[in-house]
Amino acid sequence: MKNDEKNEKTDNRRRSFLQAGSAALLSLAMPPSGAAQPRPSESLAMLGGPKAVSFPADKFKELTRWPRYGQNEKDALNRLIDTNAFYEELPLFEKEWQAYTGIPFLRAHINGSSAINSMLFAIDMEPGSEILVPSYDFPTDCVAMRFFGYVPNFVDIDPATGCFDLEDARKRITTRTRAIFPMHSWGMPCEMDHIRAFAKEKNLIVLEDAAHSHGASMQGKKTGTWGDLAIFSYQASKPMPTVEGGMGMYYNRLHYERATAYGEYSAPATFPLDSPVHRYAGTGYGQKYRMHPFAAAIGRVQLRGLDAHNALVNKNVRRMNDALIQLTGLSEPRVRPDQQRVYYYANMVLLDSTKAGFSRDALKKALRAEGVDATTWVYPEQHKLTIYRESQWWHHLPAIPTSLPGDDYINGQHIFLPLIYGEADDLIDQYIKAFQKVWAHRSQLG
Ligand SMILES: Cc1ncc(COP(=O)(O)O)c(C=O)c1O
Repeated sequence: MKNDEKNEKTDNRRRSFLQAGSAALLSLAMPPSGAAQPRPSESLAMLGGPKAVSFPADKFKELTRWPRYGQNEKDALNRLIDTNAFYEELPLFEKEWQAYTGIPFLRAHINGSSAINSMLFAIDMEPGSEILVPSYDFPTDCVAMRFFGYVPNFVDIDPATGCFDLEDARKRITTRTRAIFPMHSWGMPCEMDHIRAFAKEKNLIVLEDAAHSHGASMQGKKTGTWGDLAIFSYQASKPMPTVEGGMGMYYNRLHYERATAYGEYSAPATFPLDSPVHRYAGTGYGQKYRMHPFAAAIGRVQLRGLDAHNALVNKNVRRMNDALIQLTGLSEPRVRPDQQRVYYYANMVLLDSTKAGFSRDALKKALRAEGVDATTWVYPEQHKLTIYRESQWWHHLPAIPTSLPGDDYINGQHIFLPLIYGEADDLIDQYIKAFQKVWAHRSQLG
């Protein structure tokens, strides 16, 4: 397919997705139509019927508790305390993460944010350089740019995936744009093959935020290894939690040396004599960002269980979502066949209110009455926040988009369902029953 044709197809798909979303707001009273739905039997719990979910609350709490540490983590910490071999833990963790991902250079950091700062220092672009970055993102990705004279160029997310919208980036690129910084929202890999091709065409450095996607991959290549530079966070909520922690990932030795020396005064002395960073022996570039050894010890244990953890969470989500997406108007973010996603924080499903015939608020209320832990959370869009409107922080003021419809769609139409970190088919089946029951009564919700 020619590129233009491809773009037009993607644009059309995106437009119809968004049209469906905005039409939803106008036509909630329309009668639902389409596929056969479960027949009403019991009344809705919010109207006095029995709850669909009777699973014990204490068991539910245990199955959804995160992070999950046990005897192995306790043993690893005790061993460090008993031996004082604290700093030997860092290279061991780095080596094991390197073996897992296959990246040539990496450095463990105190958190993901310090890895981002170091990465932005490493790329050494001219002040005023702009970086294409989703507004649906963690603040550090955008705010830290200001320390280096860079400026965020805010991009939408694709409503079908919740991830970086390359078609929107094509429209927003300027003559000052030098880098592109996609983020794998909630464990869903961005379409890194297309992003890399675009970056090559426009001569952009690819930065990758893999803070949500430990163990995810595309075409067999792990997230965090698609960018020229990348970061992970191991903060407590993440799929591989060390409570606080981060990793910088690099293909290029100079990037690695600059990023490392930015946060580690003792690093330059260890670099080859002909390295341009070696002469900063004794000082580095002024920060101290190395990972806490306790975090590295926990990371080593967590890494051993990461694939099994991802497989279990994926199995549970599939059991749930394979049934839920049969319901009219309910879908999940699109995954390409060559992508292996993971799940961070929640199982996000999306409601098309036009097709379903009722609003997200009505659905949430009905589900919660049935005993489903259905929640929503508006990801703060960076471009709406104060710091991007004040010129004293920036080389030049970031352009503020008038609207990002992909952000609006995902923030406005998602429902978060809990991730289940154990074997619990009975709980999942009760959740499915709750959804089916609500759909069976959907004329009452409209
Ligand atoms: C997408 C994203 N990037 C970066 C970070 C920063 O990581 P940390 O909290 O470890 O500094 C986070 C943290 O939540 C994040 O969600």
